[in-house]
Amino acid sequence: MLQSLGWEDLGERRRAVRLSGSSYEYILSEKVGEKKNVGLITLNRPKALNALCDGLMSEVGDAINKFELDESVGAIVITGSEKAFAAGADIKEMQNNTYAMIARGGLLKNWGRVAQCKKPVIAAVNGYALGGGCELSMMCDIIYAGEKAKFGQPEIAIGTIPGAGGTQRLTRVVGKSKAMEMCLTGNQVTAQEAEKMGLVSKIFPPDQLVQEAIKLGEKISSHSQLIVALCKEAVNTAYETTLQEGLHFEKKIFDATFATEDRKEGMTAFVEKRPPKFTNK
Ligand code: CAA
Repeated sequence: MLQSLGWEDLGERRRAVRLSGSSYEYILSEKVGEKKNVGLITLNRPKALNALCDGLMSEVGDAINKFELDESVGAIVITGSEKAFAAGADIKEMQNNTYAMIARGGLLKNWGRVAQCKKPVIAAVNGYALGGGCELSMMCDIIYAGEKAKFGQPEIAIGTIPGAGGTQRLTRVVGKSKAMEMCLTGNQVTAQEAEKMGLVSKIFPPDQLVQEAIKLGEKISSHSQLIVALCKEAVNTAYETTLQEGLHFEKKIFDATFATEDRKEGMTAFVEKRPPKFTNK
């Protein structure tokens, strides 16, 4: 049933997820892949183009919590619909907020969870990834895009600025000039431009995108989860620190892999010309 994840299957998937007992209102959450080792979160608020209301982001956080605790899951994919990955934070929800209300810390309180996930998270972006939608994709570790995806930070056009990492993550990924242009004009960039900028790592036909992201998740899941988590932490450190500190951190992590059974198994399997059997220890 879940072998082919073309959009014609979405109704079938909704039914499957309902039958499996998922009780979310704004997302679908299921385990996919041949070995059911990839967690798939589908943003599912079609009438609002997956606008990221508080309830939706709280459900995403809950699904991430569950997949992080599930030892059978080695990677997570977040996707939306063919028309929209997500059209941003929910403008209607924010419309009547005041500075005093926001400053107390309620708004965007559920937004940090994806970026803190210890397991790799892949964004599979079809359609619009605007504002908070673009920011959500950048909280993920790898972005795959459908050929018609559009990325943008249009907050400036509604009298605000990106509030979930857009001015920071985008600038680190694409550099100052392109980030300034996107944030100050609100203009969208195509999937092809996003790939050229390094925001997106690969582009696929829209109906193959989710399947390709799952394949990537399966490949990552075939490795030791313990070592994958260390590797993710090391790459992320490149964004947080100087080169010398980063290299020092990388060396410590590299050394630490020699304290694991999986490092020993990986090298022994290579020498013995057999596939490794990782135990995440
Ligand atoms: N919030 C709430 N509702 C939204 C929404 C959003 N971000 N984006 C779309 N919707 C709703 C629309 O209001 C509309 O609902 P109704 O039918 O009830 O009117 C429905 O989704 C369909 O949208 P459109 O009719 O506008 O669809 P379209 O195909 O003509 O246009 C679009 C698509 C270009 C994405 C357009 O919807 C749009 O510009 N959306 C807003 C994009 C935006 O400004 N995002 C930034 C939000 S702020 C933010 O994200 C802050 C942050 O950094 C955290």
